[in-house]
Amino acid sequence: MKRVLVTGSSTGFGRELCTAFIERGWFVYATLRDARTRGRMFDAEGSAYPGAVRVLDLDVTNAAQRESAAAAVEAAGGLDCLINNAAYGQFGPCEETSEDDWRRQMEVNFFGPVLLTRRLMPALRASRGRVINISSILGLASFPLSAPYSASKFALEGWSESLHYELAPHGVQVALVEPGGFRTKFADNLRISPVPDGSPYAGQAAAYNRWREKRAARSGVPPVIVVRKIVALAERRRMPLRTLVGTDARLIDGLNRWLPRSVATNLLRRVYSKILS
Ligand SMILES: NC(=O)c1ccc[n+]([C@@H]2O[C@H](COP(=O)([O-])OP(=O)(O)OC[C@H]3O[C@@H](n4cnc5c(N)ncnc54)[C@H](OP(=O)(O)O)[C@@H]3O)[C@@H](O)[C@H]2O)c1
Repeated sequence: MKRVLVTGSSTGFGRELCTAFIERGWFVYATLRDARTRGRMFDAEGSAYPGAVRVLDLDVTNAAQRESAAAAVEAAGGLDCLINNAAYGQFGPCEETSEDDWRRQMEVNFFGPVLLTRRLMPALRASRGRVINISSILGLASFPLSAPYSASKFALEGWSESLHYELAPHGVQVALVEPGGFRTKFADNLRISPVPDGSPYAGQAAAYNRWREKRAARSGVPPVIVVRKIVALAERRRMPLRTLVGTDARLIDGLNRWLPRSVATNLLRRVYSKILS
């Protein structure tokens, strides 16, 4: 039985990934915050597939919980695949986002995955295992008023790319998955920096919120598309470094890739100014 650990298993991609891996015959460490009160959400899978899932408490920013989750994995014999999925979006103007909110975004979306992966590296080297980091199209192409989230995902991209080459000689594969917009709890869990009425960004922030709400109401793309891609990646012999998922992600990436850089930047500046006016 191959063994996978998924962070952020309570909702969205993480929740569905756990079920999908169990159904494919994997042993799953479903990790989430407050496992003691919410751990029963995997009871159905546990009954249908006895012995296929173990729920662990893991806030990725909590050093003691990272240590005890890793120790539990090692004591049970090791790990074949780590999926760094847990994250949230901190959005808002750079200047109006507090230092605490900036730091918190990097702690959860970047340092959490780095430190958990670092701790599990010996187990992954031993199994010649894999790391799959869930990034975003905003880790490849940024958007106004998304600087904290985008910066955290750009950081995740740079770290993952380096690790991809660094761990290859050790037989460990590292991949990035870059989804566009999908219907999960992501929008409900967003943190938007408060923008006071007198702020120079008040107009942009109001326009951005209207645009985001309109988009959220329309965005019905089911997360199963991303989940299938991730499971397929974990099971294929060689993982590519990057996998874009979603028409919007491919379109934005295509613009940046195929147009000369200055043309793409000028075009996007005009489009974004229009959206935020
Ligand atoms: N949905 C999209 O459109 C989209 C697009 C691009 C990329 N992504 C990426 O996809 C991944 C999954 O997001 P999702 O769309 O499935 O959103 P989601 O439904 O909000 O799921 C996020 C998960 O992360 C967990 N989490 C947040 N902070 C955590 C922490 N400190 N420690 C442990 N877990 C924590 C949440 O747990 P709690 O229940 O405890 O809050 C939740 O289980 C994220 O990396 C996100 O950036 C999503």
